[in-house]
Amino acid sequence: MSIIEKAAGRIEHGRQERGPALARAAESTAGAGPLRDEGHGAATATAMPPAPAPTPTPTPTPSMPSAPTRRTREVELDLARMQERGLITVAGGRTLLVEDFRVIKRPILKKAFPGGTAVLPSNLVMITSALAGEGKTYCSINLAMSIAMELDHTVLLIDADVARPSVLKALGLPPQPGLMDLLLDDSLDLADVMLRTNVNTLSILPAGTANLRATELLASQSMKALVLEIAQRYPDRIIIFDSPPLLLTSEARVLAGHMGQIVVVVESQQTTQHAVLEGLRRLEGCDNVSLIYNKSRDFAGTETYDYHYG
Ligand SMILES: Nc1ncnc2c1ncn2[C@@H]1O[C@H](COP(=O)(O)OP(=O)(O)OP(=O)(O)O)[C@@H](O)[C@H]1O
Ligand SMILES: [Mg+2]
Repeated sequence: MSIIEKAAGRIEHGRQERGPALARAAESTAGAGPLRDEGHGAATATAMPPAPAPTPTPTPTPSMPSAPTRRTREVELDLARMQERGLITVAGGRTLLVEDFRVIKRPILKKAFPGGTAVLPSNLVMITSALAGEGKTYCSINLAMSIAMELDHTVLLIDADVARPSVLKALGLPPQPGLMDLLLDDSLDLADVMLRTNVNTLSILPAGTANLRATELLASQSMKALVLEIAQRYPDRIIIFDSPPLLLTSEARVLAGHMGQIVVVVESQQTTQHAVLEGLRRLEGCDNVSLIYNKSRDFAGTETYDYHYG
């Protein structure tokens, strides 16, 4: 059976099971837990002082601050604002949303470190969908926050939707240099553009400066080397890629070629079966394709998600 047939079967299955399908995970509340250093040596306190102003270097675009060299920058996530906007936070307590993403993340974590010699590292997780607006960024941020609450994992959230980046915006942060700059400028190191956050186990790599050759940059050997390095540098790290839609961009297909796991967000009542099947067809040849059934409602006022994997 092809992945398309399997996935289509699962969507149908999920529709029938909506409601009870979303079992609550019988876990204790993860809470903030002990926080660890994620990455470049220096430990970071839970509450950070405001990020110091970056050292100015030649500006890539007028609206974007330039990247300081050899210094991981820090940003303060406004957790109260995130909570207001329906996003998971480490301080948010046990909500339905937190429980939902506990269920969603578990199989992803299980597959992330399979051992052996997988061709592509399974800790590289792409979040995509067929079309725009189906909840890729929402699910990427919530999945990242949920995994960041784990005791044994750290998370790097990469805004790989380089044509229409929205991770920083959704978090209330200004545009920053990031992935595109890293791929274009050999003198930059990941540490120069990666943002550490006040959630100690969560770092962010912004999309960076828009580039007309984005697809070619993502397909380049530099990108291949970068993702491998990111995947292998820390053995407990999960890397979430908020990605462009499969049917509207060429970048998505190229990105998929680097990923060990791909999660396709399907918007309840909106994404047509044709669009899902066409999106999955673009992923033919990719292993580990899973689906999140997003924005489904069991009853008024309650958002649920239904996760299928295989
Ligand atoms: N499960 C959900 N519950 C409530 N709101 C949601 C949910 N999923 C997504 N949204 C909202 O739907 C809108 C679109 O979501 P989002 O920006 O994540 O989609 P996207 O697929 O990333 O879009 P784009 O293709 O433009 O990048 C946002 O306002 C987001 O907050
Ligand atoms: Mg998005």
